[in-house]
Amino acid sequence: MKKIIHVVGARPNFMKAAPVLDAISKNKQFKQILVHTGQHYDENMSRVFFEELGLPRPDVDLGVGSCSHAEQTAKIMMSFEDVVLKQRPDLVLVYGDVNSTVAASLVAAKLNIPIGHVEAGLRSFDRTMPEEINRLVTDQLADILFTPSKDGDENLLREGIAREKIFLVGNVMIDTLKRLLPQAEDRQRLTAIKEKLGLSLGKEKYVLVTLHRPSNVDDTKMLLEIIRTLENIAEQIKLIFPLHPRTRHRLTGLDFDFQATGITFIEPLGYLDFLALQKHATLVITDSGGIQEETTYLQVPCLTVRKNTERPITVTMGTNKLVGQDMELLKREAFNILAGNKKSGSIPPLWDGRASKRIAEIINSVLEEEK
Ligand code: UD1
Repeated sequence: MKKIIHVVGARPNFMKAAPVLDAISKNKQFKQILVHTGQHYDENMSRVFFEELGLPRPDVDLGVGSCSHAEQTAKIMMSFEDVVLKQRPDLVLVYGDVNSTVAASLVAAKLNIPIGHVEAGLRSFDRTMPEEINRLVTDQLADILFTPSKDGDENLLREGIAREKIFLVGNVMIDTLKRLLPQAEDRQRLTAIKEKLGLSLGKEKYVLVTLHRPSNVDDTKMLLEIIRTLENIAEQIKLIFPLHPRTRHRLTGLDFDFQATGITFIEPLGYLDFLALQKHATLVITDSGGIQEETTYLQVPCLTVRKNTERPITVTMGTNKLVGQDMELLKREAFNILAGNKKSGSIPPLWDGRASKRIAEIINSVLEEEK
């Protein structure tokens, strides 16, 4: 029996791994092992996602927790090496671009275990982003590269990756979104969020905000400038801001008075509540990668507070616009959208809910060939 280890660690990994695990489980020839590195560990950053996405409990939890990049990567490598030596898998599957992704890839590569990278080829061309370093290294080490869009293939070819290793499969996040949207839209759930936030979803207009990139929240001046701009927007429309722990830590460190703003700050939400809120938002303001894609799929206007994106298709085809760190531009674009001037977009090719099925088929044939 062939063995596949999936490695997840941080919030954006969970919705990518869930459909792939499920699609591969159809082939009874494979034993699947799920490893959680513990990069994210809070109840609402990790466990709630396992439950809502129907992910099995991890077979192994490395429990590394939060620390500096070097320490976190090193701790994952040391613990994951033991797992790989014990299990001797035929394939290690890694997801996205977080520290857990690159750490597991380094371990597998040094033990000569083939690596599959789901969401390969994305590039922001900005090496000050930790994720860009993770993407570059992981893709150099991977043996099977699953890309979500054509730009991914082009980036990989330009970096000298052999064409036969690259498979354009589409976007696995959309597989999860399509599967769970009906649950997110469940009437009871909508009523519960409505009560929690004091708004009437589908009727009352609101803006949804998420910000956690170091470039936006670790720099105090930038963070306060963003908050001031959001307060301006909140004078016109309700603004809901689920706070990522990194952002909450930064603001708390500044003795920030959360109550004094017109912004509705809340704890991070689970997958289903957040999806429901995205679907009904008038506008989403974010610096996340995945949310740029989800809003494009949902055709909800998105303003991204970053100078670049590794997901350019959300701008060229989708509803996303980059506003950089220019707060005047953010305000102008936001008010423009609130006035009804929405950018229309379309859904990129292969973002059809079947990406994980394609991945499973490719893995079947690659591992079969090796027999
Ligand atoms: C990580 C990913 C980023 C992804 C984001 C999604 C890297 C380099 N970055 O960033 O790409 O967009 O996850 O959330 O891998 N913390 C908690 N509880 C938790 C997790 C984190 O309190 O469960 C706090 C800790 O103080 C920690 C900080 O948040 O120091 C940042 O966590 P970390 O995993 O280092 O990076 P993220 O900013 O979450």
